[in-house]
This record gives sequence, C-alpha cells and structure tokens, in this order.
Amino acid sequence: MAEKPVLVSGVKPTGDLHIGNYFGAMRQFVELTKEGKYKPYIFVADYHALNTMQDAEEMRRRTREIVMAYIAIGLDPKEVTFFKQSDVPAHTELCWIFDTLTTMPYLMRAHAFKDAEAKNKEINVGTFNYPMLMAADILLYDAAVVPVGQDQKQHIEIARDTAEKFNRIYKSEVFTLPEPYIMGEVAVVPGTDGRKMSKSYGNVIPLFGSTDELSKAVMSIVTDSSGQRPENVYAVHKLVRSERELEQIYAEHKGKYKELKEILITDLERYLAPIRAKYEELKENPSIVDDVLVAGKREARVVSEAKMEQVRAAIGVN
Ligand code: TYM
Repeated sequence: MAEKPVLVSGVKPTGDLHIGNYFGAMRQFVELTKEGKYKPYIFVADYHALNTMQDAEEMRRRTREIVMAYIAIGLDPKEVTFFKQSDVPAHTELCWIFDTLTTMPYLMRAHAFKDAEAKNKEINVGTFNYPMLMAADILLYDAAVVPVGQDQKQHIEIARDTAEKFNRIYKSEVFTLPEPYIMGEVAVVPGTDGRKMSKSYGNVIPLFGSTDELSKAVMSIVTDSSGQRPENVYAVHKLVRSERELEQIYAEHKGKYKELKEILITDLERYLAPIRAKYEELKENPSIVDDVLVAGKREARVVSEAKMEQVRAAIGVN
C-alpha cells in the first residue's frame, strides 16, 4: 500500500489561543486528520516563539496549553504525532543549511519582516530568519500539505522555493515540494475591530477564556451606526451558526446590536463548551500531555534524522 501523504503544521505558544487560531487553522487539523487520508505531524513552534517570548515559565505553561488545546479540540494522539520543535534538533540544523542557500534580499521580501521594518522595530536575527526555520519544519517530514491561515501562505511558498533550490543546487530529490491548504471561507478570521484576529492587535476572542472574558471581547466588537447588519458581529457569528439561520436572526433584530452580541455570546458558549470541558479534564491529568510529547519526540526524531542523513549525503558532510 502506498504511504499516506504527510501533513505538517505548527502553532507558536505565544499568547492565549483565540478563535482565529481555532477556526483559521486548528479546526482544519481535526477535519483533515479524521479522514485518515494523511500522516499528520503537529508541533508546538517554541523556537519560533523565542523571537518574541523570552520567559521560561511562560514558555513551559503555554507549550502545555497548546498540546492540551489540540487534544481538547478533538485531535487523537494515537493518530497524530505531537511534538515540540525544540525536542527535535534536526529543525535548527536544517535551518542552518538553508541559511547558507538563501540570500538576504530574498528574505527581506518576506511580509513578516517588511511589517516589522515598517513599524521601525528592532528586528532580531531570528525574526529575519523565521522563514528558514519554518521551511525546515515543513521539509524535514516531506510534507505534502501544510494547513495554515492565509497569513502563513508566503511562508509555505518560501519553503517550496527553498526545497526547489536545494534540490537544484545539490542535484538531488531530497525534498518534496509542499502545498499550503487554506480553508477559503475562514482564511482570515476577523477580530473585534474587523482586522485579522491577532494577539498583536489586541482584538482577540479567547478560545478558553471565562464567560466574562468572552462576553467582554464580544461586547467590544466594533459596529458602525448605519443600522445595517453589524458586519463584524456577523462575521464571527457565521463561524458557529449557519448563514440561513443568521439571516433570520439578524433580520429580526435589525439595528439591535447589543441583543445580537448577546446571542453571539450564547452561541459561542454553546459551541465551545465541549472543547472547554475536555481542556479542563486534561488540566487535571498532566501526565497525558507528558506522555504524548515523549512519544512524539521519539517518532519525530527518527523521521527527521532519516531525512538529515539524506541531506548530509547530498551536501557532502556525511
Ligand atoms: P501562529 O502561531 O501565528 O498561528 C497558528 C495558526 O493559526 C492561523 N491563524 C489564523 N488563521 C485565520 N485567521 C486568523 N485571524 C488567524 N490567526 C492565526 C495561522 O495562519 C497559523 O496557521 N509561523 C506559524 C507557525 C509555524 C508553522 C510552521 C506553521 C511554524 N512552523 C510550519 C505550519 C508549518 C505561525 O506563526 O502561526
């Protein structure tokens, strides 16, 4: 039987998870892995997070939270290999090799770098180099599909370019060219201000927040006063309720923004309740996360090391 195509994706353990992460990326993982079509590797991108989060306690806590979140949303650790990027040395090793192939002008065209530069931020080398570590994450496992939100599309293109460049320079077929997998309808989940929901914009609706936190976030959704449908509320609402039902609800409550927001709070609470319950259960049983990460580390190391042997042979350092 032919081997299944590989699926790889990661999430940085920075900031509390929000519904943008969930609807933009994490939920797709559940759907894609349920079908049994792929061999999935899902990891916590802790070394990527180091660029912006330099607090050991927070790193430990958030890393565990991410793994618990993945399991809580319905990913089955028996089907999915979960691991921490930092547990698998091949990621940083391959990143270095890619650094030697990639030019500075090429990386200067990356959106994330240009954004940081436009904000006059002091950019660390890790941020500049971010796409190379991400290319390593993806290419080590021969990923065929990489499910991500729209904001990561360029990074996947960079990974493709890098694979192609390596194969060309070293006259090899070491790397498989990956495809992004972006769910069109929810490619960008809007935040409370209508811009992309993002930790860095402070416009998030939390995935595991208390009812109070969730209500506060929903109530802060920016609406205009035209009396038309409040688009920012509707955009979030349609993630948890069918558009057919919503048409009716929004027609019945025309102009009543506060009531519509209250309905949205109730609908979000209902939708998220089972995920939260499972999350709380996992919090009570920390050994589950430990065991999952140990098993994932073992498997990811074996697979990535086999790929590194091919890489070393191709570049002549074996
Ligand atoms: P990160 O941690 O910022 O986000 C995790 C995933 O959530 C998606 N996402 C969104 N999708 C739609 N709407 C939103 N408002 C929204 N906010 C976040 C992101 O697109 C992402 O898929 N660089 C990656 C992490 C990473 C990675 C990888 C991903 C590192 N190596 C290899 C795939 C493969 C990142 O910063 O994601």
